[in-house]
Amino acid sequence: MKLRPEILASPGYQQGRPAAADAFKLSSNENPFPPLPSVLAAATSALTLNRYPNASAPALRSALAERLGTTADEVLIGTGAIALLQQLFLAAAGPGDEILFSWRSFEAYVTMTTVTGATAVMVPNRADGGHDLDAMAQAITPATRVVVVCTPNNPTGVIVTAEDFAAFMEKVPSDLLVLLDEAYAEFVTDPDTVDGRTLIGRYPNLVILRTFSKAYGLAALRVGWATGPAEILQAARLTEVLLSVTGVAEAAALASLEAEAELLERVSTITERRTRLVDALRAQGWNIPHSESNFIWLALGEHTLAGAERLLDAGLVTRPFAGDGIRLSIGEEESLAPLLATAAEILSELPAGHPARAA
Ligand SMILES: Cc1ncc(COP(=O)(O)O)c(C=O)c1O
Repeated sequence: MKLRPEILASPGYQQGRPAAADAFKLSSNENPFPPLPSVLAAATSALTLNRYPNASAPALRSALAERLGTTADEVLIGTGAIALLQQLFLAAAGPGDEILFSWRSFEAYVTMTTVTGATAVMVPNRADGGHDLDAMAQAITPATRVVVVCTPNNPTGVIVTAEDFAAFMEKVPSDLLVLLDEAYAEFVTDPDTVDGRTLIGRYPNLVILRTFSKAYGLAALRVGWATGPAEILQAARLTEVLLSVTGVAEAAALASLEAEAELLERVSTITERRTRLVDALRAQGWNIPHSESNFIWLALGEHTLAGAERLLDAGLVTRPFAGDGIRLSIGEEESLAPLLATAAEILSELPAGHPARAA
């Protein structure tokens, strides 16, 4: 069979492991809270099965455009930020081109680059888990078609500051597409962090991506949005899988915008939980990057898989990246006690001088 060799060679995207009924699922950076009754009611009443959806989600686009101060054609809805990223990659890059991002970052950037036929150029993160934006700017070549900046970075949780992002944009050619992936923006509490919404209209080459999957707790419905210059979004419309965004997703997203204050209270509960968890782990002696997201990173290196097995035995399903580290989502309050107990055991067995230990 004549299939594309690079597709056959791709490891594919590994989804966070599901959890047994009695375990905590900390593997996919999901929101541990169940849907709000108002959101559930809106989704249920929009459930139509025999008709195609109006997949451009016009009501949601208008509602977002109004909030953002843009026109509706400067907003694009997709089946999650993942779909929008892939659409934008496909619109800009093909065989012979390069897609540039920091590494380690969101794994899907790698598999989606393969789908386009372009080459992934991965610039190592700084030692603190943040993007090395100077090195990224230096890695731009005439073949670069897309640069992705992920803030907070998945899986380290480290942000890009507004100042560093502005300096970076000065160095990027104005016809090179930059994607600011802010999937976890609502969990940020550091005021120095770049906020894409304040940059709308400032750069001709910048598209901002956000999602309803994380802070808004709608991961199962697959809905996210992008905002940027209409011409770029129009190109991304042309690469979409047709008719994918459902009416149920649109209705739930609209209801979530209406219930935003209530949902953001839950976000505060999660960020407060994050702070408590990180403080407790640091008190045990862990060296943990500064996360502004709903997950944390344990840089266990060669001890990663053993550590993840240990956590699994304690009823905690996590996201190990073999040889590198474990990403743990901030989950239910009840997950913290077994997590801290197991983390203390793992740390006690790490050799002196291991990077996951505080110096
Ligand atoms: C950095 C980042 N971007 C985008 C996404 C995509 O989210 P979704 O497709 O659910 O909107 C994720 C999900 O894990 C992510 O971690």
